[in-house]
Amino acid sequence: MNHRTAYFFAAAIMLLNALAVQAAGIDSPFMTNVYGRDYQFLNGKWNAIVDLYDQGEKMKVYENRTPQTNEEFYEYSFEGGLRLNVPGDWNSQTPELKYYEGTVWYARHFDADPQPGERQFLYFGAVSYRSKVYLNGELIKEHEGGFTPFEVEVTGKLKQGDNFLTVQVNNRRTEDAIPALAFDWWNYGGITRDVMLVTTPDQYVRDYFVCLAGKDPKAVTVSVALAQPQAADVRIDIPELKISETVRTDAEGRAEVTLKTPKLQLWYPDRAKLYDVSITCGESTVSDRIGFRYLETEGTKILVNGEPVFMRSISFHEEIPQRKGRAFSQADAQMLLSEAAALGVNMIRLAHYPQNEYIVRLAEEMGIVLWEEIPIWQGIDFDDKNTEMKAQGMLREMIHRDMNRCAVCFWGVANETKPSASRNAFLMSLLDTGRSMDTTRLYVAAFDLVYFNEETRHFEMDDPFTENLDVVAVNKYMGWYHPWPVPPTEAVWDVVPDQPLIISEFGGESLYGQHGDRNVTSSWSEEYQARLYEDNLEMFHHIPNLAGVSPWILFDFRSPYRFHPTNQEDWNRKGLVSDQGYRKQAWYLMHDYYSEIK
Ligand code: GCU
Repeated sequence: MNHRTAYFFAAAIMLLNALAVQAAGIDSPFMTNVYGRDYQFLNGKWNAIVDLYDQGEKMKVYENRTPQTNEEFYEYSFEGGLRLNVPGDWNSQTPELKYYEGTVWYARHFDADPQPGERQFLYFGAVSYRSKVYLNGELIKEHEGGFTPFEVEVTGKLKQGDNFLTVQVNNRRTEDAIPALAFDWWNYGGITRDVMLVTTPDQYVRDYFVCLAGKDPKAVTVSVALAQPQAADVRIDIPELKISETVRTDAEGRAEVTLKTPKLQLWYPDRAKLYDVSITCGESTVSDRIGFRYLETEGTKILVNGEPVFMRSISFHEEIPQRKGRAFSQADAQMLLSEAAALGVNMIRLAHYPQNEYIVRLAEEMGIVLWEEIPIWQGIDFDDKNTEMKAQGMLREMIHRDMNRCAVCFWGVANETKPSASRNAFLMSLLDTGRSMDTTRLYVAAFDLVYFNEETRHFEMDDPFTENLDVVAVNKYMGWYHPWPVPPTEAVWDVVPDQPLIISEFGGESLYGQHGDRNVTSSWSEEYQARLYEDNLEMFHHIPNLAGVSPWILFDFRSPYRFHPTNQEDWNRKGLVSDQGYRKQAWYLMHDYYSEIK
């Protein structure tokens, strides 16, 4: 068979698969709101095998064999060896794995009691970075991407009683990955978020999207998609609004309806309001807490519910610095968000990837806006079509997971990418995909291309791609990577003057408790960092279209390319709060700035 014929057959198979999935009514990567379903956690201690030379697949360790005769032997066993907590990165669990980049096999037994008329799914909140899932020795799922969920149906594959689950996890950096070969955070590997066994009835509400009907504070739009393509009654309950409405899905199992409501209390930054919503089909009810709001820009302003809002933001990585590991729990979310709230923020730019659902859901309860982005971070291979497909998948998974999360107001598609035709095409395809899924949110990207123009004596930026965005963001490290060309009082910006501009990163490093000359950058002193903040906050007064600021970053965070032996020690020290949780001098300046503009 020549290659042309082979391509034809491959394309035909892909098309047939897609049609089969579509026909089954299941065209989403995972069910909406898994935490609102009937599930059991598979969290806890898992057995693990470190497979540095990738021999485990060839050895079929996922079959978990033990000697049955005098002659048999196996050079592996999951029993009696390394045990790792799930969820959690492996780097922070044992010193030998601090820098480990490679394959680790996770495995555990679990009991199941599958009943007729029920369906079962395995759901992974995130596995970093690529994974293969085996159930009772059979490969059932592969996934790439360390920050979005995936699920696999195991109906008919589960045994009554004991089942053996194996997950091959690999976090090796590659040129075609997202993020790629180098990035300024720790390359944590592992099953880093919750794992669940989810049970549903045969027919169930698989996906839904509940939002305000445009800008009408007296109407909500509800879209539902059933697992099976079937015309069926679906009941929508919003008790506080005295709504209990039954709609009929079409033959595909889909329905969209706009319901009149009493005047809603809208969700605002600093003024959260969520409604309990339940959606029922037959024996299947999924419940959620939904906030209603609408977003738009008007000239250089960002409007929430028609009111201009200045974004008092901060960033943090999904990391608990005191534990030197990934954040993954409700308690972790409470620590991160309470420290952000103490600063006086109304927004968090979740650096640089979708973070766990506990963080997202707590932010919406607290009235904190979120900017969520996929890790298109600096050196991505924009010429690689396969990489573009991966980015598309990550964006779809991020949007699909958080469509109903009112706190998420911005979808970020890139951070510090360099202008090129291939980059523009790559990012445009992401914007097209995003806008085909969700037109209720604003699209943004962060650039580090602002320069000082000696002729005009203004800060300027030349990247026409910005016209495709709703909001433009700039990372600019005046006083750290860039000395001041003019005093801050004369630092006038002329950057995308007709669009809302967010300073999405600024700052500099200091080692908590280290004191020194406020004029010496290399002092790594709290005094210098504070002076840097004073200067940048002064500059912000000279940016006419400034719609928000987001210092980099709330906490010192781990990064393998922060080599300084005493000031850094594998830590990026731009935190306003130290890795031990102590607030630096600059924290108080930022707190006062936000207090004044509240
Ligand atoms: C960049 C990048 C961040 C990085 C920061 C820094 O702007 O977006 O991820 O940590 O600069 O250099 O500290």
